[in-house]
Amino acid sequence: MKIPWWRDAVVYEIYVRSFADASGDGVGDLPGIRGRLPYLADLGVDAIWLTPFYRSPMADGGYDVADYRDVDPLFGTLADFDALVADAHTHGLRVIVDIVPNHSSSEHPWFRAALRGENRDRYVFRDSGDLPPNNWQSTFGGPAWTRTPDGQWYLHLFAPEQPDFNWRDPRVHAEFLDVLRFWLDRGVDGFRIDVAMGLYKAEGLPDAPATDQAFKGESPIWGRPEVHEVYRRWREVLDSYPGERMAIGEVWTDSAEDLARYVRPDELHQSFNFAWLEAPWSATAFRKVIDDTLADMTAPTWVLSNHDVVRHVTRYGEGLPNSTTGLARARAALLAMLALPGSAYLYQGEELGLPEVRDLPAEARQDPIFARSGGTLPGRDGCRVPLPWSGQEQPYGFAPEGTAPWLPQPVEWTALSAERQADDPGSTLSFYRQALRARRGLRGALPDGLTWLESEEDALFFRRGALTCVVNCGVEAVPLPPHDHVVIGSAPVEGHLLPPDTAAWLHTP
Ligand code: GLC
Repeated sequence: MKIPWWRDAVVYEIYVRSFADASGDGVGDLPGIRGRLPYLADLGVDAIWLTPFYRSPMADGGYDVADYRDVDPLFGTLADFDALVADAHTHGLRVIVDIVPNHSSSEHPWFRAALRGENRDRYVFRDSGDLPPNNWQSTFGGPAWTRTPDGQWYLHLFAPEQPDFNWRDPRVHAEFLDVLRFWLDRGVDGFRIDVAMGLYKAEGLPDAPATDQAFKGESPIWGRPEVHEVYRRWREVLDSYPGERMAIGEVWTDSAEDLARYVRPDELHQSFNFAWLEAPWSATAFRKVIDDTLADMTAPTWVLSNHDVVRHVTRYGEGLPNSTTGLARARAALLAMLALPGSAYLYQGEELGLPEVRDLPAEARQDPIFARSGGTLPGRDGCRVPLPWSGQEQPYGFAPEGTAPWLPQPVEWTALSAERQADDPGSTLSFYRQALRARRGLRGALPDGLTWLESEEDALFFRRGALTCVVNCGVEAVPLPPHDHVVIGSAPVEGHLLPPDTAAWLHTP
């Protein structure tokens, strides 16, 4: 039976500001991406997800949208977008774009009108005297309310430059249905929905429990039941277009059960499985996430990194004496992820084994989290440093020679550039290419579910048809289960032992 493309797609997240800069202003752009499509096709991914490239004052790197129907001049033009989609499709790559429905930019014409006192109902304004209307805190630090000169307060769950829409106003609904159609008409294959568990807030805006910022449990801020009706309407729009258009939600919750509510048959197609990304390097933790996911999700997804979290090479190596362990584990985790049923989301640069950049100078940092925490939290710039493509010095082919990238690149990245890794069979880039090729080779040939095989406690062994995936999270080598040959290893696998921090795919007749 033919399954829809997104069910087992490998999607590559492009953080547009940091992928490739064709214009020479130090910021990545749409023509830059277009020039690198052959690289992505060759890597072997099925689709790209573009982070917001819409008109924006860039208070949150573009997640503060001032015009949902236009490209910011920093990133190009609508014509550049059309050309990118056309070329991507020619390369066999689908295109997913980000949609940001929880909030707009404070420069959006609706919010500017609201500040003038017109149509305030499209945002969340309240009178409450000198104190904010409730105890809600911004995800980026500080109160979630800002007072306007006329005394009212407005809600912003993120930066003050990102006022929250009032989804109880029908005009907000109508606007987003229209925005979806605008991009669907231009040929996009899907949407990634920003803060998909946001949008609605509890009636009366009651105080939140202290734990609320972690998106856990019952909350007046996140995961309100009304939000599901929005996605039912969006699904109808998506289904009215030919060609299996899809949507994936950015949903942070504490249970696979709750996550599953967003992907009921008449709602979103997928939601990110952040439990996989949050799991420590532990066979027990991985096994639990896999079991919970497969029990609750009919269209599972897997993700190890994105533009909001510490890169997994660094996460897995945290506090360890050996600086190569993080990369070894990251490579092993990729093989585990690609062997699981469902689709996988990669983040640009993980195919180069890039670590988090921890030592960015304070004056270079741009994430509002850094400024709003008074510099006590580093924020997310460390995973957003522009990619090293080639050459011996900054900007490493990210931008035309002589251009300073918007965040400085570490000198050690000379050795990690795509060009340096391309012809080295032992490089992380070559490993990603081989792994993605091997996965393509198995497409359609594996059963939907998986069977656990007996293993040491610190190891994961699972089987899907002729594929057995083995992962060793322990400190001792473990004996391999019966097989006829090794298809691919995250590190060399010789004899009948799987070294620590290594994974492999075994062909089992
Ligand atoms: C999402 C985005 C993040 C952004 C936030 C506010 O979590 O992934 O980058 O800052 O929403 O839009």
